[in-house]
Amino acid sequence: MPKEQTIIYFDNAATSWPKPPEVSKAMAHYLDEVGANPGRSGHRMAVESARIVYAAREAVAELFNAPDPLRVVFGANVTEALNLALRGYLRPGDHVITSSMEHNSVMRPLRTLEWAGVELTVVPCSPEGFLNPGEVEAAIRSNTKMIALNHASNVVGSLLPVAEVGRLARQHNLLLVVDAAQTGGAYPIDMQVDQIDLLAFTGHKSLYGPMGTGGLIIGERVDVDRLEPLTRGGTGSRSEREEQPDFLPDKFESGTPNGVGLAGLAAGLRWILAQGIAAIRAHEVALTQQLIDGLRAIPGVTVYGGLEASRQTATVSFNLAGLEPSEVGLRLDDEYALMCRVGLHCAPAAHKTMGTFPAGTIRFGLGAFSMVEEVKAALEAVYQLATVPQSVGVAL
Ligand code: ALA
Repeated sequence: MPKEQTIIYFDNAATSWPKPPEVSKAMAHYLDEVGANPGRSGHRMAVESARIVYAAREAVAELFNAPDPLRVVFGANVTEALNLALRGYLRPGDHVITSSMEHNSVMRPLRTLEWAGVELTVVPCSPEGFLNPGEVEAAIRSNTKMIALNHASNVVGSLLPVAEVGRLARQHNLLLVVDAAQTGGAYPIDMQVDQIDLLAFTGHKSLYGPMGTGGLIIGERVDVDRLEPLTRGGTGSRSEREEQPDFLPDKFESGTPNGVGLAGLAAGLRWILAQGIAAIRAHEVALTQQLIDGLRAIPGVTVYGGLEASRQTATVSFNLAGLEPSEVGLRLDDEYALMCRVGLHCAPAAHKTMGTFPAGTIRFGLGAFSMVEEVKAALEAVYQLATVPQSVGVAL
């Protein structure tokens, strides 16, 4: 029945869609016209391929004000980048601090490190998903090496105070790792101003690139000799040696890179830089507040988080009284062609903090291409589900 309906894609927190048309064009161009392995051979096609990968590195560095494009290490996704930062740096006997709003991309590596002898403190956040920097400072010990923080919750969008924690980290000579999966491209991030030492990003969300792209930016305070690579192998450099190169980015980039993906990522980044983060953010804040206010006006709906769009990303979590999130998600897809994500969103700690564990929530993730009319249609759909127990046409 809804197949001819216009799709409302509100799952941008999982991956953005649609992408700017330049992204698929750049990927098709790379596959059809460039093709060769970047940084390996010396022929013109390989040189062009390497140029495209370097352009992606430069665009990442520009967007986040990284100290040097060569400090941008590409990988498969933000999870891999976070594993490199956490597992590559921490050693048994070290202490690391994180928040209770983290995704499992931070929690699972940290829990594994804990079993291996790394001490871990999880600082509790408020049920709205906010973190008090004073509690982070109170958790610092003599053996603390690192603070690892989600920039914004993937469940409820709450922005965590990375700049304040960045200042604390500098005062106490600690490293700050930031998981920018939900903010990179949607919210201003300046590694220097925010005093971020290790910035993990993903390409396929608000950077509008394809899946299979992401990386870690390594700040100048990080001891690169101490940071162990997750993998070792061919880099196209120092090929006479059997030992891994010790320079950036090759130390952390073994094997053929995702050239076609990085061509798409570069196009996504150029699109963001042309729009400007401020314009994207203003659009998303306006839509998010419209969504929050509209949901709160529907009987039986509980909206989570701070309820102020200026304090969060364009990700809104809610529940409907008497309905399981999974049922709501299925009905939104089946009856209204509305795509969203329900459940725990790979972030059980966040849901425990919010009091929504184990059932989870319904999550609407808006993006730069979301529209006022889509928010209105989504609110109407939720209103129908909240007030009409069974949709028309379902046998009673
Ligand atoms: N981490 C992504 C999400 O929150 C996939 O949906």
